[in-house]
Amino acid sequence: MMGKLFRVSLFGESHGRGVGVLIEGCPPGLRIDEEYIARELSRRRPGARYTSPRREEDRPEILSGVFRGHTTGAPIVVFVANRDVDSSFYEEIRHTPRPGHADYTARVKYWGFNDYRGGGIFSGRITAGLVAAGAVAKRLLETHGVSVYSYITRIGPVKARVKPRDSEEFRRSIERSPVRCPDPDASRLMEEQLRKTMKEGDSLGGVVETTVFNLPPGLGDPPIDTLDGDLAKALFAIPGLKAVEFGAGFRLASMRGSEANDPWVLKDGRVLTETNNAGGINGGISNGMPLVFRVAFKPTSTIRKPQRTVNLRTGQPAVIVGRGRHDPCIAIRAVPVVEAVTSIVLADHLLRWASWETLRSKILGDV
Ligand SMILES: Cc1cc2nc3c(=O)[nH]c(=O)nc-3n(C[C@H](O)[C@H](O)[C@H](O)COP(=O)(O)O)c2cc1C
Repeated sequence: MMGKLFRVSLFGESHGRGVGVLIEGCPPGLRIDEEYIARELSRRRPGARYTSPRREEDRPEILSGVFRGHTTGAPIVVFVANRDVDSSFYEEIRHTPRPGHADYTARVKYWGFNDYRGGGIFSGRITAGLVAAGAVAKRLLETHGVSVYSYITRIGPVKARVKPRDSEEFRRSIERSPVRCPDPDASRLMEEQLRKTMKEGDSLGGVVETTVFNLPPGLGDPPIDTLDGDLAKALFAIPGLKAVEFGAGFRLASMRGSEANDPWVLKDGRVLTETNNAGGINGGISNGMPLVFRVAFKPTSTIRKPQRTVNLRTGQPAVIVGRGRHDPCIAIRAVPVVEAVTSIVLADHLLRWASWETLRSKILGDV
């Protein structure tokens, strides 16, 4: 489960009846309907260029917790049925685990009882529930003007130059790009790389950056539930995600303190920092600057190029060739998922922060 006050659990498998999410602890009165959740889900859906050709309508059904277009305060369940299911490839590879995928570890952990069709719970499809919960979390964040933007900054060898801004225009520049990269030149080069790689039957990795604007200072519960720690843990629920760095991240290791430290400055009566190498977090607590982090996605493991594996039934070496419907670059479809997971964690911490804030004047009086 993710979260302490805003709690999210996932269920479902890739080729079972469907996937979905249970959200507990969401306050009443937030404006939510199936259309709104469907819109968010459509950003994650396969079928676009450079994503898996699996066609899923992704019609969310809200089974509880929403009445007449508003959350009721009761647990919310959103269910998304699976329709376009073809398990033939997975029957073929049942005993020859794909290198890089979870076929082998799932078989070991679940003694072979796991639903292996379509990757079961290890399919990217499981992230539909996260996107649905993220849609609800975003409504909560809107109450404090917090906005979350995720976008691609790298695919394979192509790096983008992005200057994030808190504006609808910036949001549109992400959505306009078929690879969700707001730098149009890099976006074109990324498309080229993807076309070439797909022709070769291979796949590419990528980096998704996230910037959050208007996050109040004070979110995060150290020493254990630090804001960066909770974000990192939740982000690692996204399959294929392999690294997280906040602010200047790994670059900090080669900097001096005098370069890395973000000087405190006063701007319009607010205490801010001049630079943002910390990515908006000090000591596990938001500091009022934009929250900035990057996550790396590995290249999709299911590829058409032949790869070595073993046949677990015969104990003999084997070769596997990917078939079926797969994303050439997970990172592209993961963009709305990263945005959703960020929103879920921030909604949880906003609720925790707000519970203290409401008591502040009662405890301190009018000081
Ligand atoms: C949105 C999304 C779509 C994905 N699509 C595929 C895919 O088409 N083929 C594939 O092999 N892996 C895909 N993955 C990644 C696998 O689910 C993941 O690599 C696998 O569960 C093993 O987990 P790990 O890579 O974190 O170790 C996708 C992941 C996400 C988030």
